[in-house]
Amino acid sequence: STQGSGGARAGQKDGAGRQLRSRAWFDNPENADMTALYLERYLNYGFTREELQSGKPIIGIAQTGSDLSPCNRHHIVLAQRLRDGIRDMGGIAIEFPVHPIQETGKRPTASLDRNLAYLGLVEVLYGYPLDGVVLTIGCDKTTPACLMAAATVNLPAIALSVGPMLNGWFKGERTGSGTIVWKARQLLAAGEIDYQGFIELVASSAPSTGYCNTMGTATTMNSLAEVLGMQLPGSASIPAPYRERQQMAYETGRRIVQMVREDLKPSDIMTKKAFRNAIRVNSAIGGSTNAPVHLNAIARHMGVPLDVQEWEDLGRDIPLLVNLQPAGEYLGEDYHHAGGVPAVVAELMKQKLIDEDALTVNGRTIGENCRGAEIMDTNVIKTFANPMKQRAGFVVMKGNIFDSAIMKVSVISEEFRARYLSNPKDPDAFEGKAVVFDGPEDYHSRIDDPALGIDANSVLIIRGVGPVGYPGAAEVVNMRPPAYLIKQGISSLPCIGDGRQSGTSGSPSILNASPEAAVNSGLAIVQSGDPIRIDLRQGRVDMLVAEAELQARRDALRKAGGYKFPDHQTPWQEIQRGIVDQLDQGMVLKPAVKYQRIAQE
Ligand code: FES
Ligand code: MG
Repeated sequence: STQGSGGARAGQKDGAGRQLRSRAWFDNPENADMTALYLERYLNYGFTREELQSGKPIIGIAQTGSDLSPCNRHHIVLAQRLRDGIRDMGGIAIEFPVHPIQETGKRPTASLDRNLAYLGLVEVLYGYPLDGVVLTIGCDKTTPACLMAAATVNLPAIALSVGPMLNGWFKGERTGSGTIVWKARQLLAAGEIDYQGFIELVASSAPSTGYCNTMGTATTMNSLAEVLGMQLPGSASIPAPYRERQQMAYETGRRIVQMVREDLKPSDIMTKKAFRNAIRVNSAIGGSTNAPVHLNAIARHMGVPLDVQEWEDLGRDIPLLVNLQPAGEYLGEDYHHAGGVPAVVAELMKQKLIDEDALTVNGRTIGENCRGAEIMDTNVIKTFANPMKQRAGFVVMKGNIFDSAIMKVSVISEEFRARYLSNPKDPDAFEGKAVVFDGPEDYHSRIDDPALGIDANSVLIIRGVGPVGYPGAAEVVNMRPPAYLIKQGISSLPCIGDGRQSGTSGSPSILNASPEAAVNSGLAIVQSGDPIRIDLRQGRVDMLVAEAELQARRDALRKAGGYKFPDHQTPWQEIQRGIVDQLDQGMVLKPAVKYQRIAQE
């Protein structure tokens, strides 16, 4: 039940006879002193006593938009329509800020703030008179932060995407946010554009309010929030400036009031089935390699067992259906016009790849919501019979360097296959010599140094960039080869790292390696020159070094006081480093996981 500490009174219960949680603040005759104190300040804001004591559900609007968070800033506008919907359905809206997380603005990395925003939102949802909440999601880390908090507190909650930006255009071609930066850098380096041209080209990719229009972490996580059942069907892909986006905000406001009356909570929606669906859809949309980190985090806070291996078991063999940049051609508006998430889910349903009875925020199942949803443009959303790529999911690797890491096998280029995987006796395995970097600064300062002897058979390893080593885990595993190799036509080398990766790459990057070097894992004792064997069929990555030598290195590391990483720069960096879990465990704050469904206590 949602009952708080106050006594029940007639006329102040939800449809099922439960007392609303907010009554414990605003209408508690057994504690009149406190009720008066709570009331007096909120009355100043413009509510009347009659409203606050009327038994109307009080709905929080968790506002992630601000001047510091331009991707989500349009939520400030959408909040007006949320309020309209909440009021029209008989609720009272109370808007409050969430700690800003701007992917492109926050140093050293926005992912440092995911857990901080989570903690802050948990306190607000638990500690204030709220009966339900609208989570305003969008920019990369805002979505997992909000869903993680909703999972811990377990108040009725519904998510509203800010929606993607409009398509970017430059000289008649689509320019995708994030993706265009890589191309623009090459053009600038080649002297084909100048600094002014560089800025113009990059700015063209972000032509309006909204989240990134490419299939990056934002489109991935907004799509998966819908698949998890936490958004109204069709909500994820409506572009931010579209009329439909305002209408969706209004409907979302109406719906959360009903959800409070029905006592429909995250634990009813984010079940194991919902997570299984999200993993499969992630493959079909070509979702970000950040998705396992965030989904595993949400599952842990929800108390749903989810192992990183399930990403391979459920997702590996699903084909890529969505033709969005960077893997494909199109952008967010096209994805929406082609049918968005419901069309992708319906296509997977035809193959019996969706647990159709998973419940969603509208009170119906995902099967009921998506059955019959049509693909409106098969150039943008492909059919199962004619996919972009087969087996588009992740493979989970292990070995003596780490316990788990993920790899997108489908992005291995022909060039790489020809170079490394042409051994007919063992077509799925290759060996190379390790070149080890400690953090991105070390990589950047040394990668072009010929003394490292990097050649076509090198394996680039970056460590010290996991949740502890580089607080929040840096997106740096996808490393370019030295310039002299690129000039010889070798555009990618295999990369291994304990950090994360942005976008896609033609190299078989092995990322999110857990445990990381900073907690003295095998990764901390790899040395440049070690032979590294990568066996795709067995799912193993090993340094081919004798056990006695490995033991000697472990002893030396211990004597030296363990793997060294840079100093903390802020209090939060130090606090998080002390309690954060590894990437395969969702990079959650370990002490937070034991708090489950706390609004029901
Ligand atoms: Fe905010 Fe991409 S940087 S959504
Ligand atoms: Mg495996």
